[in-house]
Amino acid sequence: MQQVANRADSATAARNLEGKTIIVTGAGSGIGQASAIVFADAGANVVLSDISAEGANATADIIRSRGGVATQVLADMAVEADVQALVRSAVDRYGRLDGAFNNAGIVQVGKPLHELSTEEWERALRIDLTGVFWCIKYEVIAMKASGGGAIVNTASSVGQIATPNAAEYVAAKHGVVGLTRAAAADYGGKGIRVNAVLPGVVKTPVVTKLSAEPYFATLFEKIRERHSVGRFGEPNEIGEAARWLLSDAASFVNGSAMAVDGGYLAM
Ligand SMILES: NC(=O)c1ccc[n+]([C@@H]2O[C@H](COP(=O)([O-])OP(=O)(O)OC[C@H]3O[C@@H](n4cnc5c(N)ncnc54)[C@H](O)[C@@H]3O)[C@@H](O)[C@H]2O)c1
Repeated sequence: MQQVANRADSATAARNLEGKTIIVTGAGSGIGQASAIVFADAGANVVLSDISAEGANATADIIRSRGGVATQVLADMAVEADVQALVRSAVDRYGRLDGAFNNAGIVQVGKPLHELSTEEWERALRIDLTGVFWCIKYEVIAMKASGGGAIVNTASSVGQIATPNAAEYVAAKHGVVGLTRAAAADYGGKGIRVNAVLPGVVKTPVVTKLSAEPYFATLFEKIRERHSVGRFGEPNEIGEAARWLLSDAASFVNGSAMAVDGGYLAM
């Protein structure tokens, strides 16, 4: 009998985003793509946003082939009007907004701070931090109208610590953690929870590409030793954590910076 109950519980948990409308940014690749699939498998209507139409379309094809519900919206996180239009499209299409995974981002160019140009600094801050600010701003407005919701932002292990030659990325991701906590404080009492996931190194296309460069190959080798599970992550492992944070099962979790990093930050 207990076994039957457990099976029923796990079936409910597997569909714990049933009927929720959830925006995913950076949904065309890596963590965003895998997470969008996890959310759709859990019953969500997923609004797939990316700057790449090809990527967003590919993710939509995968979700639909599994019987899931998805729609694509092109948006550049560096453009406020695009972010505003993305949120409007989600509400127009599905009538409400229940969740968002603000995940789109670019990585460091790989230079020491004194060699970074102002343009490189501003580009990273604009996409990786200001883009998340705009997402939260317009998502909160829509969620208030829907009666509440949950937001998860993708920060990084370097939202808490630093690695060399990544000042713009480290600063932006520390900013995402701060922004998450600030938004949690503003909206926790209004039925909107805001949390962050902090991935360790995850095997996505951008990491594979960087691994071909000797500097990053050496850095990743050093960092791998500090992932105490003995390996780097798979994109869907971040999606599973985000799925839980977006679900009602995480109803008492607000303002957290959740490490999903194979033990990296704990070492
Ligand atoms: N892969 C890792 O090891 C790792 C570790 C920690 C944090 N992260 C974070 O996870 C997130 C996803 O990274 P990923 O590894 O899946 O990378 P990825 O390059 O595979 O995917 C990023 C997606 O974001 C999109 N994107 C880039 N700039 C955009 C913009 N201006 N507007 C809209 N979309 C844009 C890209 O087109 C791409 O589809 C990022 O925020 C990254 O900083 C990744």
